Amino acid sequence: MGKKNILVTGAAGYIGSHTAKYLLENNYDAVLVDNYVLGNVEAKDELQKIADENGAKFKAYNADISDREKMNTVFKENEIDALVHFAAFSQVGESVIDPYKYYINNTSKTAVLLDIMRNYGVNKIVFSSTAATYGEPEVIPITENLKQNPINPYGQSKLMIEKIMDDAKIYGLKSIRLRYFNVAGASSDTRLGEEHRPETHLIPNILYSALAQKNGENGKAFKIFGNDYNTPDGTCVRDYIHVEDLARAHELALKKLFNGGETSYYNLGSNSGYSVKEVFDTAKKVTEIDIKVEIAPRREGDPATLIASNKKAKEELGFEPHKTLVDMIQTTWNWIQNDKWKKH
Ligand code: UFG
Repeated sequence: MGKKNILVTGAAGYIGSHTAKYLLENNYDAVLVDNYVLGNVEAKDELQKIADENGAKFKAYNADISDREKMNTVFKENEIDALVHFAAFSQVGESVIDPYKYYINNTSKTAVLLDIMRNYGVNKIVFSSTAATYGEPEVIPITENLKQNPINPYGQSKLMIEKIMDDAKIYGLKSIRLRYFNVAGASSDTRLGEEHRPETHLIPNILYSALAQKNGENGKAFKIFGNDYNTPDGTCVRDYIHVEDLARAHELALKKLFNGGETSYYNLGSNSGYSVKEVFDTAKKVTEIDIKVEIAPRREGDPATLIASNKKAKEELGFEPHKTLVDMIQTTWNWIQNDKWKKH
């Protein structure tokens, strides 16, 4: 049997590119689809090199997932065995200000993509969902059977996709939805990393402050958004997972579908959490820089604590994260000091 060929949407983005890399390095061929609204052309070029080094087939298309004409070409030119679907907007704050943007880009376009898949008889998809579909959890750690009750349009747009996928069982669609907690880190070989514009995430934000200090720039102090939460040190607690662990989980989900697995959903986290302050203190140790910090007001929409139960993923996918918070901070630090793509 030949290699499986996986269509990765949003493969020029952060998690998409790391997953495509993992697949190309682990005996899969891949097809990249990205409209480059947020994706990085540099990631696509790096993936091409990785494919060549690994003797994998790789084709890249500049296409929007809802552009039927272009997507027809993609499906006609390639025998696709399954999809891993990342292409989406993912900023909670922006989704509150401009909800249509999220419902159109994430929800509506995915419905079109699923319809195109059906037209070509492709019935397996691993979908990039989020912890944000749970909203303010009543129980910690969060298990998959808790009620999903998002508190922002971003989480809602992803939950709607999960519901569409439930209904799509009638067409024979098999989907595995992976609900990510807080993803961080860069590839250990520094070939890929996180390049969001603007950057809003905790670990890169701390490290950009550290970098400015290291370079002698009069950089802004890193801001902790609120220290009066109901948590041990007053700052928010999150469950962080390294992007390379996450990439591996996608391959396990694909394998499950190829082995006849049914539609399902899994939290991807570590069953443990770190507070913003703990992450900040670890970053100071890793960088050996006394990073400037100030306490700022709470950011709207931040739940106090989000921790995943990872029991189901462990039992059914055989997935457990291997990398530590130090790994996440160290690889991000390596990446941003290298700044090959010069986006920041
Ligand atoms: N934070 C700061 N200062 C910063 C940036 C973040 O204090 O400069 C705090 C936030 O207030 C929050 C924590 O660090 O308490 C983590 O914030 P991130 O922005 O890194 O991540 P979020 O938890 O807000 O969101 C992430 C993804 C979402 C996803 C969610 C699921 O960005 O897409 O995890 O848990 F839905």
